[in-house]
Amino acid sequence: MSQIEIKNHPKFCNVFTSGSKEKLRLYTRNRDKGNRVYGERLLEYKENEYREWDPFRSKLAALILENPINNFLSDDLSCLYLGASSGTTISHLSDILTNGIIYGVEFAERSIRQLIQNTSRRKNVIPIFADARYPDEYAKSIFSKIDLIYQDVSQPNQAEIAIDNSNYYLNEKGLLVLAVKSQSIDSVQKSEYIYAQEKKILENRGYKIIESINIHKYAANHIVLLVKKR
Ligand SMILES: C[S@@+](CC[C@H](N)C(=O)[O-])C[C@H]1O[C@@H](n2cnc3c(N)ncnc32)[C@H](O)[C@@H]1O
Repeated sequence: MSQIEIKNHPKFCNVFTSGSKEKLRLYTRNRDKGNRVYGERLLEYKENEYREWDPFRSKLAALILENPINNFLSDDLSCLYLGASSGTTISHLSDILTNGIIYGVEFAERSIRQLIQNTSRRKNVIPIFADARYPDEYAKSIFSKIDLIYQDVSQPNQAEIAIDNSNYYLNEKGLLVLAVKSQSIDSVQKSEYIYAQEKKILENRGYKIIESINIHKYAANHIVLLVKKR
């Protein structure tokens, strides 16, 4: 039995914390009891099982630890997740969005196989084997309007992929959370220059950056943008 006290995160629903402000650890309540997705630590606390959420493995956890102003999570969101990989972050979103749904798009065969395995008992996750560059190709698999698009794809044209998907699926009041990896766009230019370019592309196509969070502490050459339609 763990001695660690687990508390509600002061801002984000269904996210939990332990430790001091300086050494905060994040958790979600495990929807798939007894099972891990990426070797994360499981903890029992007051008859619930929690999974530790590693900010070095998940940019969404890194973002939350960097304390964005906007509280962008609620338990009933429908989420389109681009670049699902084997489901590290999606599994935590699945714990958080208890009344919502997550469509996870991934184009690598090996990763989608692992994603299906890792989420088969999670009824709010729908894995989609598709290329995020072509949003119309998975329209038949998406049954609801989308409140939150989360994108973490290692592609040179990250802003364009995010815009094309947002134009296609995002609610007028929805939010795009875009992890920008400068190294995938250009490995020679300075990261700051690339971030500015990506922001400009979004703004020129009718989007507004509401927050820009540097997560370099956890993921080298990454920022996360919170973006809305103008
Ligand atoms: C950095 S990993 C994502 C990690 C994941 N977001 C997590 O936190 O668990 C990037 C993923 O995007 C996928 N990807 C890259 N380009 C893609 C595309 N055009 N369509 C779909 N998936 C793509 C890669 O195969 C890889 O699995």
